[in-house]
Amino acid sequence: MARALHIGVLGAMPEEIGSDLSHLQELQSEQHGDLTIHHGSWGEDIRLSLAWSGWGKVSAARAATRLLCSAPDIDLLLFTGVAGAADPALKQWDVVLANAVVQHDMDASPLFPRFTLPALNRAQLEPDPSWFQWASTALAQADQAGEIDGFGTLSTGLVATGDRFIGNAAVLNALRGVLPGLRAVEMEGAAVAQVAEQEGIPWLVLRVISDGADVNAAQSFGNFIQRYDRRAWCLIQALLSRAEQAPQQ
Ligand code: ADE
Repeated sequence: MARALHIGVLGAMPEEIGSDLSHLQELQSEQHGDLTIHHGSWGEDIRLSLAWSGWGKVSAARAATRLLCSAPDIDLLLFTGVAGAADPALKQWDVVLANAVVQHDMDASPLFPRFTLPALNRAQLEPDPSWFQWASTALAQADQAGEIDGFGTLSTGLVATGDRFIGNAAVLNALRGVLPGLRAVEMEGAAVAQVAEQEGIPWLVLRVISDGADVNAAQSFGNFIQRYDRRAWCLIQALLSRAEQAPQQ
């Protein structure tokens, strides 16, 4: 029999994964400075290692690195949580699975073109196509089965990460101008994707819209995140419950 699938799950805040971990079995935790890593299982076939990283690219990269060190057999690293809408068509509760991520505050020009990550010589990182396909199919199936009722429209697109909470239309419009197709902004995903790429681990970034990255963003975010805590696990479970369709390890 194939070994259990091992998924690493990171979110910036407890509310972005769900602070209640009682749905996990054989829960154990380990402490690394101020970072707690939880290891557990979900059903017979899935092992999980998860942590809340804290906000921003450095904290996210540090947590991703620690998670991969503490569980070197992780098959997939999933970063999940909320994001600001960069596409005005997106509404609160809409779900965006990143088909590409970019660090919008990376700029080593003129040595490298704007946004290019010197370590990888690429600006945008794309998830492994088979894991991406698995996740988008799983979410669509869960939606059809009514398992993620209450969430909005599912879509895929470009997600931009930077060390800035965006609550200003001019800042957002400037980003949209230089990043065609931009759908959502957040503060961790592309940093985790970079770590995962450099470590040779498949990754996904899955975000739910909490605000419009506009003048009301801070208030919308604050209200949303409290409600999201009770719903976050539902989205993760939509993926876990379709693990049998996951790419072969
Ligand atoms: N995460 C959620 N909303 C955000 C915003 N407006 N800017 C950056 N990160 C976010």
